[in-house]
Amino acid sequence: MEFETTDQDLITLYTICDQFTDKIIERGQLIPILQQIQEKIGYIPKEAIVKVSEVLSISQAAVYGVATFYNQFRFVPPGKYPIKVCLGTACHVKGADIILENFERKLGIKEGETTQNREFSVERVACVGCCALAPVALVGEQVYGHMAPSKVEGIFTQIEVKKQIEHKQTPNSEN
Ligand code: FES
Repeated sequence: MEFETTDQDLITLYTICDQFTDKIIERGQLIPILQQIQEKIGYIPKEAIVKVSEVLSISQAAVYGVATFYNQFRFVPPGKYPIKVCLGTACHVKGADIILENFERKLGIKEGETTQNREFSVERVACVGCCALAPVALVGEQVYGHMAPSKVEGIFTQIEVKKQIEHKQTPNSEN
């Protein structure tokens, strides 16, 4: 699924890269620059590969090769509601892979992907540090413990309610 980079993300990307253009920077700074881009934008858009290769005077293939080598970098935008399913050992033995499958099926996307409307993304993560609640899923910062397939639908209902509340609180909303 191909996503257009938003104007706002492009401005952020160019602002980050502009900090480096007047400085002597070395190839070793490639990962810190990519980390900064991901931290601010949420992912590495395709334009970042081009821009960073110019800044560091190295080939786009080299930038792309390094970025894809480390699984900390993602190449699709995170959803507005990023869903993370913990697949650490404690969660795995309690059936986290089935929870992940349920999210994937509900959204019609695979782990690592984002829905076309950018509302949701799903990814697997390593232990998030609350193994006593295994299996665990997160939506943004919200932790859902003792997950079960039957709870997946309830999470989407909660998100819908939250969206409606936000919509009502928006000054220019029609309702
Ligand atoms: S293994 Fe999932 S929270 Fe630790």
